[in-house]
Formats: sequence, structure tokens, C-alpha cells
Amino acid sequence: MSRKRVAILISGRGSNMAALIEAAKDKTYPAEIVLVISNRPDAGGLLVAQANRIATEVVDHTAGKDRPTFERALQAVLERNRIDIICLAGFMRLLTAGFVSRWQNRIINIHPALLPAFKGLDTHRRALEAGVKVHGATVHFVVPEMDSGPIVAQAAVSVRPGDTEEGLAARVLKVEHQIYPLALKLVPRAAFGLKMGDVSLTAFPFRIPLHWFPWSKFLHDPT
Ligand code: GRF
Repeated sequence: MSRKRVAILISGRGSNMAALIEAAKDKTYPAEIVLVISNRPDAGGLLVAQANRIATEVVDHTAGKDRPTFERALQAVLERNRIDIICLAGFMRLLTAGFVSRWQNRIINIHPALLPAFKGLDTHRRALEAGVKVHGATVHFVVPEMDSGPIVAQAAVSVRPGDTEEGLAARVLKVEHQIYPLALKLVPRAAFGLKMGDVSLTAFPFRIPLHWFPWSKFLHDPT
């Protein structure tokens, strides 16, 4: 299978983007990062992408654009660059059902919590307030309902007594950087299964217990 052409959408520092770029430097990795798009011109991740010689584009959502206009501009950039798969990585903008449906099974996101727990913002603070003992991160396919699509990979992180929001966030971020490249590796195969309507292939990445994966050593608190 030829390497899939990936665009990463960011709004900020882009540390997950950097982890994907690093993984895709391996020529045997099934995806190549060909483009980074930010909706904010000042996103720090743009400089990191450029330093890695990845093409960047800014589709500024604030330039008087309504949502459909913004998404039309985004779609045009994606088509011009013949993008196969979109990775959302700290992209702080809700996408419409129309846009998401167009990219169904070809758009994934990373969320800093063990979905379906703690959808939305401020996940680390809410996890601490709820007193959970285990927190973590999830990579999932994007569907119109926020933070709700089929799960590709998850990593768990233990919550320690006296944990602060910042400390917990830092440990979760560390596992995010591990699971996002692993998850993106699975997507070309998963998308193929979904397209073919093959139930067993489709189910493979989502249903298999995490401890069966050969890389399950990564899927626990590394600290
Ligand atoms: C990450 O915690 C990610 O899970 C969330 O936004 C944050 C982005 O961080 N969606 P970075 O820009 O990848 O460093």
C-alpha cells in the first residue's frame, strides 16, 4: 500500500504534531506528513513544522469568515494537496457535520482523557475533581458529535495522590505522543476495512483488548 498523504490540523504548540512528524520520518511508516494547517497564524507548531521542512498553510478563521466559508477554504487546501487522512492535533475549532461526513473514516483526533469519560475541555481538572484513579488519552475517529467517534487507541495514566492539573497534564501528554503515531499507523487499514464494509476488519482496531497489542507496554503510565 502506498503511503497515505496526511495533513495535521493544529491551533497551538503542536507537540502531538511533532510526534507524528517524527514517526513518519521512517520510510516504512504507512503515512507521510505532507502538510500542517493552522487556523491561527501565531500557532507555535507552524515553526516546528517548517523546521522539519513540512509545508504549512494558515486558514485563519478570524478573518471575518463564517464557518462554511472557513471550511470551504480548508477543503480547498486539502484537495489541492491531495490529502488522504486528516489528523487533528490540538485543533481548537469545531467542524461541521457536513465537513466531518465528507472525511468520514479519514479524520482522527487526539483527546486528553479516557473517552467516553471527560469529553470537552479542561479534562485534567475535571478528572482530578472527580477523584478518578486512572486518567489518560484517546485517539478516535471524528464524527459529527464531539469526542464521540470509534476509538483507535487509548493509553492509561495513574492519578497520583496530590497530583496537580499541570503534573497530570504533562504525564498524559507524554503518552499522547506515544499513542498518536501508533494510531495513525492503523488508520489506512481501518479506513480500508470500513470502505469495504468488512465487519471483522472494521472491528479490528477498535474492539481488540489493548493488552493484546504488541506495544501494550507503551499503553501504561511510563513514569
Ligand atoms: C493535547 O493535549 C491534545 O490532546 C488536545 O490538545 C492538546 C494539544 O497539544 N486535543 P499539542 O498542541 O499537541 O502540544
